[in-house]
Amino acid sequence: MLDVRDLVHPDKGLVSRRLFVDREIYELELERIFARCWNYLGHETQIPNPGDFMASYIGEDPVLVIRDSRGKINAFLNTCRHRGMRVCRADAGNAAAFTCTYHGWTYGNDGKLVGVPGYKEYYYEELNMEEWGLVPVAQVDSFHGLIFGTFDPTAPSLQEYLGDAGQYLAAMVDRVEGGSEVVGGTFKWVMPCNWKFAADNFVGDNYHVPVTHISAMKSGLSPNRRPGFRALQASTDNGHGFIGRPNPGDDREVFPGQQFSPIQAYAQSIEEKREEYLGSWSRLYQPGVGTIFPNLSFEAFTLRAWMPRGPDKTEVWSWCFLDKHAPEEIKREMHFFHQRRFGPAGSFEQDDGENWNMTTASSMGCVSRRHDFNYQLGLGHERLHEELPGMLADGPSEHSARRMYKRWLQLMTADSWAEVAAKS
Ligand code: FES
Ligand SMILES: [Fe+2]
Repeated sequence: MLDVRDLVHPDKGLVSRRLFVDREIYELELERIFARCWNYLGHETQIPNPGDFMASYIGEDPVLVIRDSRGKINAFLNTCRHRGMRVCRADAGNAAAFTCTYHGWTYGNDGKLVGVPGYKEYYYEELNMEEWGLVPVAQVDSFHGLIFGTFDPTAPSLQEYLGDAGQYLAAMVDRVEGGSEVVGGTFKWVMPCNWKFAADNFVGDNYHVPVTHISAMKSGLSPNRRPGFRALQASTDNGHGFIGRPNPGDDREVFPGQQFSPIQAYAQSIEEKREEYLGSWSRLYQPGVGTIFPNLSFEAFTLRAWMPRGPDKTEVWSWCFLDKHAPEEIKREMHFFHQRRFGPAGSFEQDDGENWNMTTASSMGCVSRRHDFNYQLGLGHERLHEELPGMLADGPSEHSARRMYKRWLQLMTADSWAEVAAKS
């Protein structure tokens, strides 16, 4: 009988490789993590008008996110109540209603079943249409333009779920007046890796950067920063974590012989406004990379959701987001910067994917699987900070990953949110 408590020892920095390849664990994750937690669904700027919709997922469940005719954002399981066909097969668009292409049941953009072929003649008006609307996502809420949803009506509010991470998340996606917007479409690709490798890489792995990405950085595909460990990591309750720059106002490091880039110059130019907008704490820290547990990650100008597709498969949905009121030429630069680094063929993306694919594959070997992964970097050296929430660590540390797996364990071993709260 599988007991995940035997597999994860966050306080010792040990995690079993079985977490990354085992089908039974994966099935339990779909129930206890994805169907229970708040999942990222998309950005408000992708559906600005009444009737706008976009496709998304929670775990392996397809979800349709719709701004209804009154402007309210709702989300539903994107599967027909009759026989399960995908109700909306488009990625995005605008519609007052959705007609299933199998037998023609039609749903309004508020999820109600409004049309059934043969309702009079063959159902004899006996079908209770009120009962057969689309299955709603139990709670939907937005945070600085980011739309999240959970299938669990007993989940804590989004605000509570994000907790202290909200402050850091807002500093990423709403750092100056006007906030952010998502530009361009959704990039999608599939990687042969477990979703947690990606989530934990963004939650707090800056240890890999000067090794994995050295060639991309030297070739000028980074913000021209000298690769190194000048970083501050923050982890918060509930498994969220961030990597950022301490004292961002002093950030003028470049590779010898390289230029201070227009994007860096723009970042310097908004430094004062950023501080006014976010508060004085932002002088001390600028989060630049992070994960909101379980599967929303971000880095400069890219948001991505790691959609699980099996223990050894992850579909990535990635978007470019930018400061809405940045000058157009800077936005263009940022967009290219995003694509060169974190598009599907981006240099950093390729570097990372290669690591995660091989760590997944090598965890399948029956002998390899007996040997835990080591998450002991900086163990016991995380600390509280007077002005910044959460636990902090200088330079590279795996404390955010340790806390992420601690949270994973709490969720995987609890039958309800009340039990999760009792374990926290
Ligand atoms: S499956 Fe949708 S109408 Fe039959
Ligand atoms: Fe990386």
